[in-house]
Amino acid sequence: MADGCGPVAARARAVPPFLVMEVLERAQALERAGRSIIHLEVGEPDFETPACIREAGERAIREGKTRYTHSLGLLELREAICADYRREYGVEVTPERIVVTSGTSPAMLLLFGALLDPGDQIVMADPHYACHPSFVDFLGGTSVTVPVSAADGFQLHAEAIRGRLTPRTKGILINSPANPTGNLLSAGNMAAIAELGPCVISDEIYHGLVYEGRARSILEYTDNAFVLNGFSKKYAMTGWRLGYAIAPPRFVRPMQKLQQNFMISAGSIPQYAALAALRDAGPDVARMVGLYDERRRFMVRRLRELGLGITVEPTGAFYVLANARHVDEDSHRLAFDILEKAGVAVTPGIDFGPNAEGYLRFSYANSMEKIAVAMDRLEGYLRAL
Ligand SMILES: Cc1ncc(COP(=O)(O)O)c(C=O)c1O
Repeated sequence: MADGCGPVAARARAVPPFLVMEVLERAQALERAGRSIIHLEVGEPDFETPACIREAGERAIREGKTRYTHSLGLLELREAICADYRREYGVEVTPERIVVTSGTSPAMLLLFGALLDPGDQIVMADPHYACHPSFVDFLGGTSVTVPVSAADGFQLHAEAIRGRLTPRTKGILINSPANPTGNLLSAGNMAAIAELGPCVISDEIYHGLVYEGRARSILEYTDNAFVLNGFSKKYAMTGWRLGYAIAPPRFVRPMQKLQQNFMISAGSIPQYAALAALRDAGPDVARMVGLYDERRRFMVRRLRELGLGITVEPTGAFYVLANARHVDEDSHRLAFDILEKAGVAVTPGIDFGPNAEGYLRFSYANSMEKIAVAMDRLEGYLRAL
């Protein structure tokens, strides 16, 4: 059949697959064939969204709050986000600086869409969240990576960034607590990065999931910054799709225009639910954080017993990035082999940048019972090698 559409656009061809989804899809195929698989690959809370949030969503439906909202998001929600940043970090943000979006991911599209001209550079750590460079590159920018090392807890140092700055550097992207390492950026490093000059884009989606120390917002150090945040992780709301950006004032209008054209507004029901999350879900979050922390300690101990390399203990998010190079240097091959032979789904480090090759990422957003069985299966797999 003649194909009048011609080739797929180069910019779409250039986007790499998100490997974790490919592991998940293979795992699901094995499950359909009757295999028992334990999922430690996806970065998704295993908890139900807290009841107070679900009820607020149901109430919004019953009350017919089913229309487009303001393109920046419900004013009440933006005010609640400001109150949250004031309470948590002592910083003053006004609702006019907030753009509410259908997840943190669309906030990145608006942000980089408003920030980048072709060839502009964004500096980020390697390893990094798999999709960060995809957003930058898709929108015409260039991702510039700075290798960070396990030996000092994957810290991104201002000095290392300085060597990568060019006249085309538009921003520095940080993510603390980080995916995939689970580490927090030290206050000193954050302050030094804020002083480098280019604006800082701070992905704060794992804030609230911290087990030692405290996460700091980039706004504690500079206003020359964008914040990315969302409700997926802290409030176990991945499927609701709600996030936001806090932008410097002159970028809000451009981001708003992108939202009006391409998304119109975030969903109304998730916005009402998110309002309840900020107001009422504190005790639920505290309960989930307590459970994540128990799992974190257990998983770190077991992975170390199995000989996997964890130099500095992760203290945030719900990930452990463990060195498995001595088992196989090819993390893609190793992850799929563990999946097939041991029935444990894990994410290959290469998903997060070349510097994470040889590593595997384990998510502890799963029950203690399942994590314990997964560690036993992994032990059996390694023994049989
Ligand atoms: C660092 C980071 N940023 C953003 C996202 C996307 O989150 P959302 O569900 O809000 O689009 C993720 C999801 O895994 C993430 O790990």
